[in-house]
Parts: sequence; structure tokens; C-alpha cells
Amino acid sequence: MRIMENKKTFYITTPIYYPSGNAHIGHSYCTVGSDAIARYKRMQGFEVMFLTGTDEHGQKIELNAAKEGVTPQEYVDKIVHNFQKLWKLLNISNDKFIRTTDEIHVKCVQKIFKALYNKGEIYKGAYKGWYCTPCESFWTETQLKNGKCPDCAREVKWEEEEAYFFRLSNYGDKLLKLYEAHPEFIQPESRKNEMINFIKNGLDDLCVSRTSFSWGIPVDFDPKHVVYVWLDALTNYITALGYDSPNDSNYQKYWPADVHFVGKEIVRFHTIIWPAMLMALDLPLPKQVYGHGWLLFGDGTKMSKSKGNVVDPMILCERYGVDAIRYFLLREIPFGADGTFTNEALINRINSDLANDLGNLLSRTTAMAQKYFGGVIPIERESDLIDEELIQSAAKLRAKCDNHIAGYQFSNALAEIWKLIARTNKYIDETMPWTLGKDETKQARLAAVIYNLCEILRIISILLTPFMPSTSPKIQEQIGAFGYAVSYESADKWGILPENTTIIKGETLFPRIDVDAEIEELNKLIPNPVAQKQEKPKNKMIPGIAKYDEITFEDFAKIELRVGEILACEPIKKSKKLLQLTINDGLGQRTVVSGISQWYKPQDLIGRHIILVANLKPAKLCGVESQGMILAADCDENTVKVIFIDGIPAGSSIH
Ligand code: MSP
Repeated sequence: MRIMENKKTFYITTPIYYPSGNAHIGHSYCTVGSDAIARYKRMQGFEVMFLTGTDEHGQKIELNAAKEGVTPQEYVDKIVHNFQKLWKLLNISNDKFIRTTDEIHVKCVQKIFKALYNKGEIYKGAYKGWYCTPCESFWTETQLKNGKCPDCAREVKWEEEEAYFFRLSNYGDKLLKLYEAHPEFIQPESRKNEMINFIKNGLDDLCVSRTSFSWGIPVDFDPKHVVYVWLDALTNYITALGYDSPNDSNYQKYWPADVHFVGKEIVRFHTIIWPAMLMALDLPLPKQVYGHGWLLFGDGTKMSKSKGNVVDPMILCERYGVDAIRYFLLREIPFGADGTFTNEALINRINSDLANDLGNLLSRTTAMAQKYFGGVIPIERESDLIDEELIQSAAKLRAKCDNHIAGYQFSNALAEIWKLIARTNKYIDETMPWTLGKDETKQARLAAVIYNLCEILRIISILLTPFMPSTSPKIQEQIGAFGYAVSYESADKWGILPENTTIIKGETLFPRIDVDAEIEELNKLIPNPVAQKQEKPKNKMIPGIAKYDEITFEDFAKIELRVGEILACEPIKKSKKLLQLTINDGLGQRTVVSGISQWYKPQDLIGRHIILVANLKPAKLCGVESQGMILAADCDENTVKVIFIDGIPAGSSIH
């Protein structure tokens, strides 16, 4: 008789990323987190499907490709290659990589669109509304914030065209019922309340086709329309499993997904549009959508391609090793919350957690095993009461990690592992093996202490595997652990390392870094506004100060200085020097012309906060009326730097 293996399955996905610029550390954050969970579940015996990929259609890609003078397909191919290279480098264990330009996906989206149309869930109408190209989203007049996209605060365009609509307005109540019946569907909790409010404000039918550009999946029965990118993109979670294809065994096996990991800005698409589409198709709904927080740049702004403040993970991996970067991303920020990336925080984590705590524990243990016993610990061992507590903590570690992983709290799981590392380092100080080593009569006690240290390292190495997949085998090699001794099953058991195990002192896992020198070096390679802010001002004498004409405080008070946010920016065609900025001054929008095009590209400025002279008399420059001025510093004869004050809300008064 054949015994059918009936393993539990687990399906986890990342968002499919826009290949509109190279992958940065923000994308890596979500992908590394998903990878740690996928690896942990596999270790627990689940049959895992871990999906990531790229979302390649839409107007933004079409525009970017045109700017570079290549076809959209050529444009995305190059960037997708960069994403795949990075995932390989970061040791990402995805089982599948979907591209929305894959033939199988395209065909399936067309089929789904038609099925929805045939069911009357999609109908043809006319679209009039505001469109945000970077977010690929439509908005009604009332949804706009200060006339801008409510998600990204950028310029929106009025669009009118014949279009297909999805009857999203029919799904408000059904979605609210879903959230009530399955409180775990949207996590963390706070994101659920946002969605409930959004639905209670009323859902409009969703425009799901476009005719104003062509880089998309054509609606096969009306090919001047292309399918709206979000409808195209969301479907990836089932097309990647072969949904509705002759070989859809993965769909049968893995759908519904256990969890979709997504950034908090796209929870709405995943918890409103996606379940409504699935309801309309009579398909099962994913079990959970987890909206994680953002990795912020040191100045408190979201890291994003369009702001140009992204950190390149390839540079970091090259300098510190892949596992150090994985560890930092997984440990530094509790999943769900926002967190800040700074070069200082990275180096400190590497030095204190990896080099000091973990690295020292391993090197002290293996060095002592070598020094006192030539690498083979004697069988005769004498235990002591002090060992008990340590052994108990070690045996409980797996259950604690399991518990945190069940709620996707990998940062907490790592914190538990590091608690045990700290406890074990203290155990070394308490048991003082160097003193035992000097006393012939204490050899059995010394053997027990060193064996215990190896056992702790064995357990830690097993539980660390999903987070630091190349470090764990290095630890296991040094303590001579393999086979059952490195299995998940043995991670809550004690005394598993065999008697004749040979311990070797191998390479240092994480060399300590000279903080000051490294930060200086790193700041040259990776932007770091915190470090720049902390730079001591050059103590230059300003001899000419007395020459300036004095003004009274009342004179100064006449100048209305406000924080402004640059919403849009474009060169002025007739001029080589001028940029035209659209600025949110807290009350509304205004146009300001600034002579900074020699030093800044429009994309460097969008989203940045600046100081605005808000009551300057308007003046026309190259035919454009400038309603104010932004402050900048003349650093030397050839360099002008705009004074950025990101993090301070637009409209704040400066005095
Ligand atoms: N293509 C859509 C998603 C479609 S899913 C059906 C998209 N793509 S994206 O390239 O903008 O990537 C968004 C995801 O990348 C975020 O939801 C988040 O998971 C990750 N991140 C991008 N920048 C990030 C940070 N600065 N911080 C944390 N995660 C970030 O939206």
C-alpha cells in the first residue's frame, strides 16, 4: 500500500514590484521578511509556496521607457534582471517569480476580465475623473486632498474616456461582513480600521480599463482598451499558481494564500479590490493581508525611487555580507511598524549583536574546546545546579520562536534568540572555565560547561537558519553538528551532540568594525542625512558680518517663511536654468520658479520639504508667474544647495 504524504501547505506572497527603477532596500525589507517566514515554515515541515515577482505594465513604465528611447519590454527586462540578481544575492528562496508580461499571466487576466464581463460584474461606461499616474489610481473630486492624490500628494490629471467598470460599489457590505467574520483578515489591527472607514465613506465602481496608453494587457474582446494595472497585478497571486490553466495543480494545492505581505500603502488594494474581485469570481479569499510599515530614510521620509533617497542593498551586502544585512532588516524594525535606516544603526547592530554577542560566543566556545580538550569533549562530565536554568531556557526557545513566527514577528523571534545568547555569555562568566582549566580535579566540570555551550550553539544555529541561512551552517560546522542534531525536531531537545564530536575553531563570523572610520567611508557610498545633520558646522570666521546693513526685528518679521512641500517639478522649456515647482504651502498650491536646474533634476525635488518665502511679490520669469521663492545656500561659486527640511509638515511657520 502506498502511504500518501499529507503535508500541510503554506502560501506566502510579496507584492509584485514595479520595475520602474532598480530594487532598493525598501523592496528587500518585504522580500527578506517573507523569505524568513517561508524558510521557517519549511523548517517546520510545511510544503511552502513562496511567490514574488514584478508588476510590469502601466503608463509609468511606458513613459519611462519612452524617455530612455527603448521599448517598454526592453526597459522592464533590464530592471527585472536587477531584481532577480538582488534576490539571488540576498539568498531569497522564492519558489516562483512571476512577471505580469508572462504569457500565461496575460492569457489568464484576459479570461478573468471576460468572465467578469459575462457575469455582469464588469460593464462599459464612460470615465471622468482624476488620475494619479505614479500610483496608477483614479480618484473622485471628494477623495482628493488639497487637489492632489490623497496617497502620494502628487499632481493628478483630469481624464475622460470610454472605459469598463467593475461593480465595486456592490461589495461594501460584503467586505465589512468579511472583516467582522474574520478579524484576522487584515493585520495589524490599526490598518483594518482605516479600511472600514474607507468603505463606510462609500465605494464607487472601479474603472478597470484604459485607452489613453497601450502598455498593458489588451481586453481581448475590445482591444483598444488595456486592463487597469491593479486588476492585472492582483491577479498574479492566482495566475502564478496556474489558475484556470490545464495544469492548475498548484492552484488546487495552495490557494487560498495564507498571507499576502504588502506595504501599508497598498493594503487598500489587497483588502478591498482583491477580495471583491474574488467574490465576484466565486473564488476563495486569501486568509490574511499583512500591511507592514515603511523603511524610512534617516530624515524620516519614506525611502522611494521617486524621492531618490534609496539605499542600494548590493553595496551593503558586499561590505558586510548578506546575513548581516538580512539580520539588520529582520531585527531592527518590528514587522508592522515604520523604522529608520541609518548607517550608524546598521554598524551598531553588526558590532554589538553579531560580532560581540553571537560571534564571541562561538569563538570563545570553540577556542576553549580546542585549548582544553583538543576539540573532543570528554564523556565524563559533571553537571551543576547552575546549568539547569540555562538548559531550561534553551529547551523553551523553539516554542517561543514558533509563537512569534505564527504572528510574523520575526524581530521578536530574533530578540528571544539573542536573550539566550546574552544569558549564555553570562554563563561563561559565571562558570569561569579558564579557572576550571587550571585545576586538574575540575576537568569533568569543565567538560560539562563546554558541552553545554556547544549545545546552546546547536539550538541557536537551528533556529537562526531561516533568518541567516549561510551563517547557521558555519556555526554547525565549527561545533561538529549535522544530521538530526541540526534538525528542527531536535531544537527543543538537550544532549543531542554526539560524544565523539570534533569541535574546530573556524573563521570569525562577523569581524568587528571600526565605527568611526566605517561610517565615514559608508557615508560616501550611501546617503545618510542623519550623519550629515550631525556633521559639525565648519567653524569658519565670517569677518564680513559687520558690513551688512542691519535690519530691525520688525523688518525681519515682515518675511513670511513657511515650510513648503514640492509636489511637482518640471523644467521651463525656454530657460536653461529655471525649474517650475508646484508647492503645497499648507493652505493650497502655488507655483514657484527657481534657478536651480543646474544642480537638481525634477525627480530629486518631488516630495521634499523646503523653506518658502511665502509673501514675496509675484514676478514673471520666462513667462511663468513665480509666487514666492525657495531658500538655498551658495556653498561655493559653483554649488547651490536647496535647504531641505524634510519631516516638518508643510505650512509650518518658520520664525
Ligand atoms: N506593483 C505594486 C504592487 C502590486 S501587488 C499586486 C507596487 N509596487 S512597488 O514597487 O511600489 O512596491 C511596493 C512594495 O515594496 C511595498 O508595498 C513594500 O512592500 C515594498 N517597499 C517599497 N518601498 C519601501 C520602503 N521604503 N519600506 C518598506 N517597504 C517598501 O506597489
